Amino acid sequence: MDLFERCYSFTRADEVKEMGLYPYFRTIEENEGPVVSMEGRKIIMAGSNNYLGLTAHPRVREAAIQAIQQYGTGCSGSRYLTGTIDLHIQLEEKLAEYLGYESVLLFSTGYQTALGVISGLVSKGDYVISDKENHACIINGAMLAKGGFAEFVRYKHNDIEDLEKTLKRIPDSAGKLIVTDGVFSVSGEVVNLPGIIEMAEKYGARVLVDDAHATGVIGKGGRGTASLYDLTSKTDMTMGTFSKTFASLGGFVAGPERVINFLKHHSPALIFSASPTPASCAAALAALEILQEQPELVDKLIANADYMRKGFADLGFNVYNSPTGIVPVIVGDVDTALVFWRKLYDKGVFVNAFVPPGVPPNMSMMRTSYMASHKKEHLDKILEVFKIVGLELGLITQ
Ligand SMILES: Cc1ncc(COP(=O)(O)O)c(C=O)c1O
Repeated sequence: MDLFERCYSFTRADEVKEMGLYPYFRTIEENEGPVVSMEGRKIIMAGSNNYLGLTAHPRVREAAIQAIQQYGTGCSGSRYLTGTIDLHIQLEEKLAEYLGYESVLLFSTGYQTALGVISGLVSKGDYVISDKENHACIINGAMLAKGGFAEFVRYKHNDIEDLEKTLKRIPDSAGKLIVTDGVFSVSGEVVNLPGIIEMAEKYGARVLVDDAHATGVIGKGGRGTASLYDLTSKTDMTMGTFSKTFASLGGFVAGPERVINFLKHHSPALIFSASPTPASCAAALAALEILQEQPELVDKLIANADYMRKGFADLGFNVYNSPTGIVPVIVGDVDTALVFWRKLYDKGVFVNAFVPPGVPPNMSMMRTSYMASHKKEHLDKILEVFKIVGLELGLITQ
């Protein structure tokens, strides 16, 4: 069989494009944070992970420019060989101190971090134990470990009883890594970390929390999930990304120094891939400094998201509830979701349309997310547009 056959016969995206309803790969021409330009129009952005709005911060932009002046545009090698600059070390040290871990290791993306940590640490005969709603990078990290003959098992979403049942079936002698999103990326729910730590201690497992949507969002001064529960000293490893709160690109894992040292020498995703660019590191460093100096930005983000959760619920929408920056509005089937999305877009609001298989059938959603830099006028405009479209499509009835 010609492998490309499946590419030629894949026409679903073209059909949706022809109907004018395709919500993906939309081009942004200018980006000020809460407002972007698309197709020559100003649009309110309610789908970005730029949680603290720092991509537009003059200090973050200036830091990136300065780094390019000093180090050039790329590192041209992996951390292992010629790709380590002092900005990598500074960022690792500052992050470790901020998060309360012994050591931090940078990767080139958050996705790559999960691949690198899971497959670097877990090997033949070990188990990766993963929440069913974990992000794709965790699943693919576990699959990579499986390729190295590790076992990959999954437990029901945020269900500690099912986690325990799963752990009971694993031989005592096997190495075990429980991996979970800290804030689940689709729903915005926060993981039951105390339950996970209790199980890890009972069954001799290690824990990795993916805080991509939690750093800068929850916990003390935005220190993430472990901090939220006061469990940093018991949470073996926390990983994260620079592509959201930190206004940049790259990923990191925080953990004990000996574990980080091991990963430095055993993680192919680190050793065989070029290091984060100077501009990426400098932007993330500046963003981290701003976060530490202005923790009130975290409060502002959560106040904005809370305002929207309440606003959508008051209008009669079906909304997920969580104390995070993600506010999903459930709209039902795929067709409704695509039409809903397009109508929002035409009226000047951009959100993310999440449809199956990313979400369960009939749980298609307008996944909205907020920034500390959204102003009340932006938020009210989003609510106004949702109200108009919700009434038009019969999702709400006021
Ligand atoms: C939970 C989670 N982990 C990891 C990632 C990947 O991060 P990055 O964008 O740095 O690859 C994401 C990004 O969407 C995410 O939501």
